[in-house]
Amino acid sequence: MTYSHNGKLITFEGCEGVGKSTQIRLLEKYFTEANVPCLFTREPGGTPVGERVRELLKDKSIEMFCETELLLFEAARRENTGRIIIPALEEGKVVVVDRYIDSTTAYQAFGRGVDRATVDMLNRYGSAGVKIDLTLFLDAPPFANTSRTADDRMELAGAEFHKRVYEGYKAIGVSEERFVSVPTFEDKNVTAERIIEILKSRNIV
Ligand SMILES: Nc1ncnc2c1ncn2[C@@H]1O[C@H](COP(=O)(O)OP(=O)(O)OP(=O)(O)O)[C@@H](O)[C@H]1O
Ligand SMILES: [Mg+2]
Repeated sequence: MTYSHNGKLITFEGCEGVGKSTQIRLLEKYFTEANVPCLFTREPGGTPVGERVRELLKDKSIEMFCETELLLFEAARRENTGRIIIPALEEGKVVVVDRYIDSTTAYQAFGRGVDRATVDMLNRYGSAGVKIDLTLFLDAPPFANTSRTADDRMELAGAEFHKRVYEGYKAIGVSEERFVSVPTFEDKNVTAERIIEILKSRNIV
């Protein structure tokens, strides 16, 4: 399905702890100061169903098949997309999502080994076919930031898994025009400035 709206959809992607949430906070500050109508949400989450699913997915004491994990992510995504993202796009807002379909491709297809065509199909279903205008991939190898300890299912999955996820992101980037790699700088404000330059060059702000 295609939607006609004046909004813009931006997704942030990258490995664990590379600074996605940090950059999203800085972008939210910039949008607020510049009076850009915007909406920020995260995946999985953003809705009552999404937040419950997030708890389930993060609980390392619960075992599940990788297929179950995939379906739970898509269930949360369908709620977030239908209830939060599409209405905001229809209001003409710039919508920023902390992780979206590329996370599922990188983690479930490249990381866990679920068949790519199945992941692509479920990504289209979970995102209700909404079009992404720009994906900002914070390009740093997994665990570049070692200040944090693994405390959930994904972070516990092991170095080889996270290496496949990183390679997966790189592979997605090759085939998607919307995908822009952003190097991560030691100074987070420098990264934030680069991101704003990219948004301006793509006429998003
Ligand atoms: N440029 C930077 N240099 C050094 N440390 C940073 C930088 N940006 C963020 N950090 C720190 O790195 C940690 C992880 O950042 P953040 O939570 O933003 O990552 P994330 O990509 O959202 O992680 P997750 O995948 O777990 O959601 C935080 O403690 C944050 O303060
Ligand atoms: Mg984060």
